[in-house]
Amino acid sequence: MRGSWSLLAAAAAAAAVAAAPFTAATKTLTPTQMEGPFFLDLRTLRRDVTNGRPGVPLYLQLRVEGGCKPGGYGCKRLPDALVDVWHTDSRGIYSGFSDRGVNATGRDWMRGTQVTRKDGMITFRTIVPGWYPGRLAHLHVKVRLAVPPANRGHVGCLPYRPPMGFTTQLYLPDALVRSIYAVPPYNSVDTYVSDIDQDVVLEGDAAEYAALTMAVWPATAAWCTANGFTSGSPWGMGHVATYTLRLQS
Ligand SMILES: *[C@@H]1O[C@H](CO)[C@@H](O)[C@H](O)[C@H]1NC(C)=O
Repeated sequence: MRGSWSLLAAAAAAAAVAAAPFTAATKTLTPTQMEGPFFLDLRTLRRDVTNGRPGVPLYLQLRVEGGCKPGGYGCKRLPDALVDVWHTDSRGIYSGFSDRGVNATGRDWMRGTQVTRKDGMITFRTIVPGWYPGRLAHLHVKVRLAVPPANRGHVGCLPYRPPMGFTTQLYLPDALVRSIYAVPPYNSVDTYVSDIDQDVVLEGDAAEYAALTMAVWPATAAWCTANGFTSGSPWGMGHVATYTLRLQS
């Protein structure tokens, strides 16, 4: 199962770093945030989670580190961790549910799972998520650690214990979100900006919001090629968003 990913793994190390116009994530222990009602334990192993749906490309590059001290220091890279991402499409609709007038039962856009490599990293091809009333633009992430080989089940069963794991939400820099929501297929920046002051995270804990905001660079053709992705889309080249999840376990 890992074999088909090996060519991708080799390329990822050489990621080009362009100028960084958006704010960088801070170095702290990663705060947990609620799972919410839309997690599905599908374990669909794939890098591209878009199902071809419209939206500005987002290359989500995550590194998982464990054994961190409370300040977020002394971490070790964690290979073989199961990482789920899930978020809405450009309309702000989750797949797999009948939600806000859209019956997306049985659909799985913007949902995927990967297993971290030796360097603790994985990269998803997704889109900048849309939004729904009362919430900042966000992506959900769950990390589950590998069970020791001796305890693994039969072939076909991924060796991970259900179900909770480390769960949080990641955010994009606000300036980036606003610029993207001003144009198709999002077309909703005014409503978004007037709505997000109700967001529970912004209201509750601005420091936590800052700690969970990813660093973002513009994607380039060279970066896409080096990381095994087809570059560009009708919605532009898109962005690379990076984040290091620093866990205590
Ligand atoms: C949603 O679609 C599924 C399959 O397409 C169908 O079985 C289900 O009844 C629909 N649900 C609603 C609430 O319309």
